[in-house]
Amino acid sequence: MTKVAPSLLAADFLHLEHEIGRMAEAGADYLHFDVMDGQFVPNISFGFPLMAAARKGPLPLDVHLMIERPEQFIDAFAKAGASIITVHQEATKHLDRCLHMIRDAGCLAGIALNPHTAPDDLRYLMGEFDLVLVMTINPGFGGQKMLPGCIQKIADVRALLDSYGRDAIIEVDGGVNMQNAALLSEKGASLLVAGTACFGAEDPGAFIEHIHSLG
Ligand code: DX5
Ligand code: ZN
Repeated sequence: MTKVAPSLLAADFLHLEHEIGRMAEAGADYLHFDVMDGQFVPNISFGFPLMAAARKGPLPLDVHLMIERPEQFIDAFAKAGASIITVHQEATKHLDRCLHMIRDAGCLAGIALNPHTAPDDLRYLMGEFDLVLVMTINPGFGGQKMLPGCIQKIADVRALLDSYGRDAIIEVDGGVNMQNAALLSEKGASLLVAGTACFGAEDPGAFIEHIHSLG
């Protein structure tokens, strides 16, 4: 079953409790929590105060750190209630150390790859991560159109994991919608992030049910 993580970035913040609740009711598996620092990406989103509220909701938190030197904040995000913490390969000089910090803090450890980043380095970290997040847009903003050139990377990551006999989660983030979800799952994705497509849907339950029916 392919899982779904609605991205909170697309929610109506005036009605946070209601927004998270309706995603849970619609069948979401996680709440995707995008943290941006204005350095790694050209935007600033939200941080700990919002997370303190979101963790009181019914969904486990999938935290996507789009921040420079994420090692500074891993323990704090774990304490704030993250279930998954994903750091960008491009944002740290010490990816291996970050992964250990995340697991030591009791969370699943994810590696995110920007559109230009090849998955080759993953082979040297096999066994040290639980998830690979393939960005299918340039990170920083919701509501963008998927970059078609990134879709092949999902299959490349799946093949690389298979060749090592590993079964990490492959998460896809950016421009996911009703039209492309089946292709992403076919390529090997097992968790789809969807901001606009979930929060903007007339019937998010139907969208999530469609994704659950894939792969
Ligand atoms: C962007 C974020 C995404 C974003 C996706 O940097 O990482 O999670 O919210 O939004 P949609 O699904 O609208 O493309
Ligand atoms: Zn994200």
